[in-house]
Amino acid sequence: MDQTGALDALLQEERVFRPLPQLVIEANINPHQLEQAQRRAEQDPLAYWEDAAHELDWFKKWDRVLDDSNPPFYRWFPGARCNIVYNALDRHIETANKNKLALIWEGEPGDQRKYTYYELYREVNRFANALRTLGVAKGDRVVLYMPILPETAIAMLAVAKLGAIHSMVYGGFSAKVLRERVADAQAKVVITADGFYRNGRIINLKALVDEALAGAGAECVETCVVVHRVNVDTEMHEPRDLWYDDLVRQERPVCATEVMEATDPLFLLYSSGATGKPKGIVHAHGGYMVGIARTLDWVFDIKPTDIFWCTADAGWITGHSYVIYGPLVAGTTTVMYEGHPLYPQADRLWDVVARFGVTILYTSPTLVRMLMRFGVQYPRKKDLSTLRLLGSVGEPMNPEAWVWLYKYIGRSECPIMDTWWQTETGMFMISPLPISLLKPGSVNKPLPGIEADVVDAHGNPVPPGKGGFLVLKRPWPAMMTTIYKDPERYKKSYWEKIPGVYYAGDVARRDEDGYYWIQGRADDVMNIAGHRIGTAEVESALVAHRCVAEAAVIGIPDKIKGEVAKAFLVLHDGWQKEFETAEDLVAALRAHVRRELGPVAVVKSIEFRESLPHTRSGKIMRRILRAEELGQDAGDTSALEDPD
Ligand code: WT7
Repeated sequence: MDQTGALDALLQEERVFRPLPQLVIEANINPHQLEQAQRRAEQDPLAYWEDAAHELDWFKKWDRVLDDSNPPFYRWFPGARCNIVYNALDRHIETANKNKLALIWEGEPGDQRKYTYYELYREVNRFANALRTLGVAKGDRVVLYMPILPETAIAMLAVAKLGAIHSMVYGGFSAKVLRERVADAQAKVVITADGFYRNGRIINLKALVDEALAGAGAECVETCVVVHRVNVDTEMHEPRDLWYDDLVRQERPVCATEVMEATDPLFLLYSSGATGKPKGIVHAHGGYMVGIARTLDWVFDIKPTDIFWCTADAGWITGHSYVIYGPLVAGTTTVMYEGHPLYPQADRLWDVVARFGVTILYTSPTLVRMLMRFGVQYPRKKDLSTLRLLGSVGEPMNPEAWVWLYKYIGRSECPIMDTWWQTETGMFMISPLPISLLKPGSVNKPLPGIEADVVDAHGNPVPPGKGGFLVLKRPWPAMMTTIYKDPERYKKSYWEKIPGVYYAGDVARRDEDGYYWIQGRADDVMNIAGHRIGTAEVESALVAHRCVAEAAVIGIPDKIKGEVAKAFLVLHDGWQKEFETAEDLVAALRAHVRRELGPVAVVKSIEFRESLPHTRSGKIMRRILRAEELGQDAGDTSALEDPD
């Protein structure tokens, strides 16, 4: 937990940064309004969220704001009818937004595509009609395994428009992971691309889909829609596989938007937990759209002239909430970039900002640390003067990276919104606003309507400055509604660890001023470059290798990625017959994990042991290994023992 050198720096961080007066004057939410909102949210949180809901369009308004009769299965806006796509697209066609740019996309080779709201709306309608022809209807699951393309946004919106449920699988996951998720969701359709450009190379995505769909469990898939992106030979399996272009060519650009109950599911998104089986996090139309609309507007202070760039992949929750849905609901212009941030050189991000005049840049600490290494000569050569706000998400931001971003990218003028949230929360929960006093490395304070706390394993608040478990004490609109097909697990993993509150799985502390500092995960989940990977998933991938008898995986600090995986293995006798040296075996094991889980699961180092430490009941004690690795006293962490 207290594992990084960066953390020591965090603990000593005392600098405070103030927003420029002009920014405070121009902010959508000024200090007076914030105080009022906080007072209203404290006295009557539901009224606060109801105000936010009134800012959106509904086919029918709610009977009540929150049905909390069956906790933790909270139902937001029951009785209301809506569709998030109506708010993201349809309604803009009636306003001056119609001809405004909705989406600017840039491919890695430098090709560009731009869509106005009207154009995007028509493309979505065409593809929705095509999907309907394929038999996709309300409630059906559609899996998207896509790179960053305009069609990725179009496909998500088209699926949601029909009232079907999308489930994005990040392109950095393996064929095996894709198959498991297709099978769990019993998806009828898979949407993918022939390939994409990454770091100057072409990645053949469709080949991975073929491998996934050939395996047991994926028989549910009737159709695979393939977007043409790269010039590679692509095997098309008749009659299952269809080209996107062929499908939409004849379709009309009008399509009715399905009327949904506010509580109907909008998407599934799988996320790693403490066990080997990822959780299908479910989000619903109504509460989700209210939550992301309000938080994006307040935290990133969206103005009619903004060009908003969130660098996350659409396959993660950040991409769902703040690349696609949030910005479109807000009627702003969202930027998507297909490729690698270092291609063709370390100035690509700054180049994109300069060329499109990006005003808000929302990115991750890993990316900042990576670009920092190349020095300031890269950003210095680009005109970054259009930037007015910066943001960060996914992992703790070390003060060095914070100050670098602030100084060299933000000209010491742009505040940094370090937003704490999760796949499960759907929306920002703890974050500064542009008017806030900032402390580098802190995620500031809970947003209005959010009640957080730092507690011990029994749920008692810990004093300022002490580490504890981060919990949320009240439901919020964009919260997950359940775990797909496993409501018991939802209850147990989040609401019963510490009774009556939502257990986030993070260790945090709160300082004397009420500022929150996130210290890392409390459970056996790693955070590798802002991507959540369960240690159990990597372990089960490793023991699937014939040479491995037993595996324990822990996260260890990494200067760039924040955290990387280290594996301790007990080997079966006889591995020497297959591999000449231990190095050969290590290389084979790394490749094996990559094949099982995908390039996203980076195993940095592998150590062989005679045995691993176990509890009496036979569980591997990763805590002991971690303490050894980091040179800590294993007893140290007892105060923060997982309540399990
Ligand atoms: C976990 C959630 C939410 C989008 C990206 C990740 C960590 C998230 C921060 C932050 C420190 C952070 C937490 C959290 N995290 N934001 N600003 N500072 N840590 O979504 O994959 O659901 O992971 O990411 O550990 O629990 P996710």
